[in-house]
Amino acid sequence: MAQPGTARGAGSRPGRARPRSVSVKDVAATAGVSIGTVSNVLNRPDRVAAGTRAKVEAAMTELGFVRNESARQLRAGRSSAVAYVMLDATNPFFTDVARGIELTAEKADLSVFICNSGNRPEREHAYLDRLEQQRVQGILITPIDPADPMLAEVAARGIPVVLVDRTSDVARHCSVAVDDVSGGELAARHLLELGHERIAFVGGPASLGQVRERLDGARRAVASAGLPQDRLTVLVSAELTVAEGRHAAQLLAGLPASQRPTGAVCANDMVALGLLQQCVTLGLRVPDDLAIVGYDDIDFAAAATVPLTSVRQPRLQLGETAADLLIDEASNPDHQHRQVVFTPELVVRGSTRRPA
Ligand code: RIB
Repeated sequence: MAQPGTARGAGSRPGRARPRSVSVKDVAATAGVSIGTVSNVLNRPDRVAAGTRAKVEAAMTELGFVRNESARQLRAGRSSAVAYVMLDATNPFFTDVARGIELTAEKADLSVFICNSGNRPEREHAYLDRLEQQRVQGILITPIDPADPMLAEVAARGIPVVLVDRTSDVARHCSVAVDDVSGGELAARHLLELGHERIAFVGGPASLGQVRERLDGARRAVASAGLPQDRLTVLVSAELTVAEGRHAAQLLAGLPASQRPTGAVCANDMVALGLLQQCVTLGLRVPDDLAIVGYDDIDFAAAATVPLTSVRQPRLQLGETAADLLIDEASNPDHQHRQVVFTPELVVRGSTRRPA
């Protein structure tokens, strides 16, 4: 019995030697061909006659041969993979973006390593280090700080880095993003045009550029409506989560009715869903007592108990475009960096209406 704290690998039981891995030489001997022919089947199959290729593949199956990807990488100098370092794996926005990346990578026969920084700089840097060591074809990243010098350092050492959902001010990288100032303005203007004269902006640390820009847009809409900025109540939160949305509902419900906003722009759908959920719990009617606008238009937005009005981000397109830019930078000697910015759109549903 293993002592507590000792770890035994599957093949390391006493009395049983770890099975020797099958080599290219073993495959060649079994198939009755040269080692070079086996190497061609692995790396340049179009150069091998179909019958010979079938013999080699049969030998690989019979022996349980598994190609040594790290050896291939060493020879080729690059892995056949790209990586996406997302900010928050608990947020469907990022998994939708990752799906777009995978759709494009798959067409280029590239694997995708999905990493989650969890909005933790030390974790993000550890991933950048490890991915550089793995010699991936390129790194797509939604960075905590788009001006982080490590991004430029990795790119300068030959690994293409594409910013996703953030723009690159110094054009040292390709980037794809959505105009978040316009998105915030769209959301707030929708409420103001419905007749709401006191609105809230809910959620997100100001350290996130996406949040800062959406708030800037909401402020711009209030100014354009000729209202003083004190008609916009800002409720910041440490994270963009459902729990923070629920907490914001408690704060809003605690305000005297005369000071309580009748509409809320949320920094993203996760916060909006939490706000909606807690309003229902507290007996605040949505939209009659509080109209709510989310941001991202993730699939859960339309499926909410009161379908959410939300600012739609083209998540799949963000991922596909970012992957296209990365593959071009990794393969095209004449590549030129591009900053692609998409325009968000407002999807109106049942969570917003004129104030009661
Ligand atoms: O990561 C926070 C938010 O920024 C996401 O919900 C999405 O809106 C992204 O742009």
